[in-house]
Amino acid sequence: MNDYNRIAPFYDRLKKLVFGEQLDLASNYHLSKLTGPAKILIVGGGTGSILTNISSIHSVDYVDQSSNMIDLAKARKFTCDVTFQTSTFENYDTTLSYDVIIFPFFLDMFTKKELEDILKKSKQLLKDNGSIHISDFVAKNSGLSVFQKLLLTSIFVFFRITTQHRLFKIINTQPLLQKLNFQPVTEKSFVSGMVVASVWKIDIH
Ligand SMILES: C[S@@+](CC[C@H](N)C(=O)[O-])C[C@H]1O[C@@H](n2cnc3c(N)ncnc32)[C@H](O)[C@@H]1O
Repeated sequence: MNDYNRIAPFYDRLKKLVFGEQLDLASNYHLSKLTGPAKILIVGGGTGSILTNISSIHSVDYVDQSSNMIDLAKARKFTCDVTFQTSTFENYDTTLSYDVIIFPFFLDMFTKKELEDILKKSKQLLKDNGSIHISDFVAKNSGLSVFQKLLLTSIFVFFRITTQHRLFKIINTQPLLQKLNFQPVTEKSFVSGMVVASVWKIDIH
């Protein structure tokens, strides 16, 4: 399931063809505001374009299921210290904890049950005061134009065919995050509202 190995070599070109730089801008947006050195976990980072925007003061663990994606990411020029691991997030085994966990266009591939497990695991891996950064297509598409809805459906069909993606609709992560006591810190919309980049923290009060 979710096998990105075959499409890895042309993934970036495809992404740029449809969205230009917008998806990368969304994934990078909140990162630029990190102050001080952070221990970062990037999950499903794909070809690694996100790495090129991470300051050298941070250190990164980079987990992706696709070995082809990991190879492309390793070949990038980046200045931060990065440890790569080819693994699913579900099987990622570590004793480390993180200041920031980034899910760049990752959570839209999972069922509600899978998401609950992924978010629970993220909570366990976060340091006190750590945060989760999510960039994704919106789950509620009622505010989108007919063209945008068609585009989202086409993207889903394309990924179902090429990566054995199983979903037909994006699950709304907001209630799942809130159930785990995460609170929204900030968010910004991209691609005329089709994409949202948000930051979540555990409410410790
Ligand atoms: C939609 S792509 C997004 C790539 C990149 N973040 C971007 O925005 O261009 C999803 C990525 O998640 C990886 N992936 C899929 N399922 C995964 C899992 N269970 N654990 C870790 N990575 C996974 C894929 O190999 C792919 O690189």
